[in-house]
Amino acid sequence: MKFEVQPTGTPVDAEVRGEVLANPAFGRVFTDHMVSAQWNREKGWHDARLEPYAPLTIDPASVVLHYGQEVFEGLKAYRQPDGGVALFRPERNAARMAGSCARLALPALPEADFVEACELLVRTDSAWVPSGEGSSLYLRPFMFADEVGLGVRPTDSARFLLIASPAGNYFSGPLRPVSLWLSQEFVRAAPGGTGAAKTGGNYAASLVAQQEAIMNGCDQVVFLDAVERRWVEELGGMNLFLVQDDGTLVTPALTGTILDGITRDSVITLARELGYTVEERRVDVDEWRKGASDGSVVEAFACGTAAVITPIGALRWPGGEAVAGDGQPGAVTTQLRQALLDIQYGRTPDTHGWLRRLV
Ligand code: PLP
Ligand code: COI
Repeated sequence: MKFEVQPTGTPVDAEVRGEVLANPAFGRVFTDHMVSAQWNREKGWHDARLEPYAPLTIDPASVVLHYGQEVFEGLKAYRQPDGGVALFRPERNAARMAGSCARLALPALPEADFVEACELLVRTDSAWVPSGEGSSLYLRPFMFADEVGLGVRPTDSARFLLIASPAGNYFSGPLRPVSLWLSQEFVRAAPGGTGAAKTGGNYAASLVAQQEAIMNGCDQVVFLDAVERRWVEELGGMNLFLVQDDGTLVTPALTGTILDGITRDSVITLARELGYTVEERRVDVDEWRKGASDGSVVEAFACGTAAVITPIGALRWPGGEAVAGDGQPGAVTTQLRQALLDIQYGRTPDTHGWLRRLV
């Protein structure tokens, strides 16, 4: 695809931008530009451009507004020690989005075009990449059905967009262990459903459980499998690892109902290189609950692009609580978080070819 470039005539004032970059929250402020492209069955992908960030005009009868035919991605650009900027594993996001599109009956965006769109936006808005520790530029590529009509059938027209937002910690305040609510009533995804796709409906389905988590004083919800209500799956927006007292890391296997996290994959690789055994398998929630009290599960952490690696403190359910270790960030969690951040921020050699330098 050839992207036409239409720069904004009214970029955000450097001083205002500086204030945002000094203290970025998550997903509140967006950069000067966005990338967009249009697809239909006759023409395929066309009208690809970088243009000023602006509201959209869409028809009220657009398919996405009624039936949720939509997918999205999340990846980050990191400021490097020499002032340059690098993306982390963008080709993995491109491939995952293609998989999500296949599941949602949306057209595939060629992976090279996905990566090029990310590169173009980050290069253009590189002044928006923060340099503070733990800060980065979060990219949100997404695609939705914009055909007009209320018939329930796969769309003949779709739009791809890419926006970007300076990001600090996903959870407010300094890094701290988060508490999890074990959802009893609600599940996120079922076998044969859309759990492995990154589609808005999965998040919509998680919100009432997240609301329940907050009502019970927890930061996030953790879901069990839909069939036996026994196997730990993932959080509303993160994958999960347990650390056993023998140093083994355990994470739920990719069964088709959870997201194949790029952070999860990176953690598995880094942990093995650091000498840990990593098991991808089914994880019984009682293994966690009992292990936390008998000392065989010593740490738990969540991981994802937005969350990086976040220690888990308490796991709570109606009338009960289990805390792995002393509830503080554990040694293995801290070591892996540091190893990952050192690669992303270019402080250690990128031996896996995970960084794509842009500027
Ligand atoms: N699981 C869910 C449901 C997510 O939304 C995310 C975030 O993207 C993840 C896991 C972690 O995936 P990644 O590490 O690729 O960001
Ligand atoms: C991400 O980490 O990129 C996600 O999509 C998680 C989201 C819930 C913010």
